[in-house]
Formats: sequence, structure tokens, C-alpha cells
Amino acid sequence: MKNISNKNIIFKDKKVLLRVDLNVPMKNGSITESSRIEKILPTIKMLLEKEAKIIILSHIGRPKGKVVKGMSLEPISKKLSSLLNKNVLFYKNIINDNTLSEVNKIQNESIMMLENIRFNPGEESNDNEFSKKLSNLGDIYINDAFSCSHRSHASVEGITKYIPSYFGLQITQEIEALKKITSEIIKPVSLIIGGSKISTKISIINNLAKKFNNIIIVGGMANTMLKHTGYKIGKSICENDCESLIKDILDISKKFNCKIVCPIDAVVSKSIEGVGKNKDIKEINDDEMILDIGPKTISSIKKIINDSNTVLWNGPAGYFENPNFQTGTREILEIITQKTINDKIFSVAGGGETVAAINKFKKFDSFTFVSTAGGAFLEYLEGKTLPGIKALNQNV
Ligand code: 3PG
Repeated sequence: MKNISNKNIIFKDKKVLLRVDLNVPMKNGSITESSRIEKILPTIKMLLEKEAKIIILSHIGRPKGKVVKGMSLEPISKKLSSLLNKNVLFYKNIINDNTLSEVNKIQNESIMMLENIRFNPGEESNDNEFSKKLSNLGDIYINDAFSCSHRSHASVEGITKYIPSYFGLQITQEIEALKKITSEIIKPVSLIIGGSKISTKISIINNLAKKFNNIIIVGGMANTMLKHTGYKIGKSICENDCESLIKDILDISKKFNCKIVCPIDAVVSKSIEGVGKNKDIKEINDDEMILDIGPKTISSIKKIINDSNTVLWNGPAGYFENPNFQTGTREILEIITQKTINDKIFSVAGGGETVAAINKFKKFDSFTFVSTAGGAFLEYLEGKTLPGIKALNQNV
């Protein structure tokens, strides 16, 4: 892995094109959550120490090759400047014939952020000419945006064909953590997977069933499993026409000796605003919906986690937005984080709703690693090769 911590790489006097993910949530022009900006600070600080000239490339939103007011990176450049306590120059235009001369004015240990790279039509189409033009702006390229590496875009993939390219500190940390749940696993290893739709997670389950000892299915996905294996689930959310998909899961898990675990009891209610009632999974009435896992299921999950050395969690156990249905999600969090803190397991969590639950219960620092990458995290778990990572590995 060609990583920027390699002491032989000389950054002094070099223009370094640094691709990061500053796609942060904004409301009325203000940043509402800034962890993605904070995460890039170690790489920037390291480059400053090495006297590089830093040119930041990033996107926000999906402007589709057009300049869209409200999708400018300017407010983010200001936030970065305040976090670093250092001026961050902002280049307001899309990339044009003058950009190079502006970039050439940057001094060592200075930072310039270019406007939203997706305002340029060649970015998302991974246009060769645009990739070349982009590469001409710098001497070295660094990808520190794992969460964008599933995109074959010019600033992620195309650019690496034309310039020496390296992995940044953050992307390296993310890949190292994900390897420990995909290729360098310390077994027994268990996956707890939830969320509403089994069809969106089928590729992850089928990929991981080949290597994992246990797959615990919770949340709305479990309802679909239960319904298709003969249980009555009342008016719980579930997907129809999933017979072949569920057959695949059961066949693969049997072939690879992976235990599939579904809830044996649940917390039900007549509405999502209601209060909960514990029920055995065989006793759900037609007018009830499953909104959380029950105490017996929590105990069985606890036992599995206690017997595991590695745990991956993706997807809440229930409708945790209502405190009446948050116990399953909170307990799973408690069990995993307690074992992690006592240094007993390697734990990884990721996915939008999972990170929201972790933040709600203030457990972000209690996992070995929490991935904030959305699509890239899921594609990595599906076993796909991410184009941005492949490109860096191929760059010589
Ligand atoms: C993300 O938020 O997952 C990344 O910034 C990628 O964004 P995209 O899905 O618009 O490519």
C-alpha cells in the first residue's frame, strides 16, 4: 500500500492534490455535522509539517456537472480554516485555463481549496481530458476519501493515471479496520445486520456468510425472514416476493456453516407512536407490528457476542427513534462496546442509521472503528473492488 507516511516521499515544495470527502450535512448555509472535516486534519497537519503546498479537492451534494448555488464548498473552507487556525484560500471558479497559474502562486505550508469538483462536467463522467487537466495542477495526488472511493470519478480514479498517487492517513485507517472484518478476521466472527430492507443487504449477507460464524438478522429485515419462514408478523414492515433471496441466504449459510439467527421474541405495538408489549414471535396478532427485539432475543445475541472475537454491526434492531422501542438497539450497543472496552473484541460499526444510533447513545468512541462512509462501506462489505482503491494500487 503506497501510503503517505512513507518517509521516502518528499513533499517539500510539492503541489499536493488532496482528495477528501467534505460532503457534510448543511442547513440554510450552515454545517450541521462536521466530523468529516475533522477527520482530514491529521493528513493536512502532516503535509503542512512536511512543507507541502496543499490543494484540496472535494465535492458536496450531486450538482451533476453544473454550478449550483447552495452547493459551494466556501462555507466548508471557512470551517476548515477555523479548525486549523490557519488561512485556507478558496478558489471560486470551476477548473479553467487560469487555474494552474492561481495554483502556482501557493507557497509552501499553504492550503487552497478548489470549488466543488462536481461543478465540472468531466468529474462524474471520469473524462480523460479533465482527469489530465486536474493532474496538471499538482505534482502528487493523495486520496484520503474512502467514502468516495466507490465512485469512478476523475478526482478519485481518472487522475491516478497521470500523476504519482498515494493513500492518505484516514483512508489507510479505514481499509485496515475493514480488512479485519473481511480478509484478516480473528474468528469467531459475528455480524448483526438490521435495517428495513433485506433486498438492499442481500449481497453483504451472501458475501459475509462465506466467512462469518454467525449472522444475526434484526430490524425490519428480520420480519421478512420470519414471514417467509412461516411466522405471522401482523402489520409489521416487510418485503414481498423475497422467497428466492431468502433461499439463497439459507443455502449459502448452510454450505459455509454460518449460523443464521432471527428474533425469537419481539416488542410489538399497534402503531409506531405506541407503547410496547413483549411477545413471543409465534403470538403476533394481525393488528400488531414488530418494533423491537424482545428480551430473549437480546440474551441470545449477548451470548453470541460474548463468544465472538470480532463483531460487525450494521443496522438498528428496532424503531429506536421512539424510546419505547430502543431497548434492543441500546442493548446491542452496550454489549458490543463493553466487550470492546475490556479489550476482548475487535468491533466495527457502520451505515447511516447505525451511526445515528451510536451518536444518539454517545458510544462513538467505544467501538474499535466506526465507519461514516455510506455507499463505499456497504460496497466494500459486499466484496466489491472499489475503483478508487484499485486505481491507487495500480498507480506505479
Ligand atoms: C457520501 O456521502 O457517501 C460520499 O460523499 C459520496 O457521495 P455520493 O453518494 O453523492 O457519491
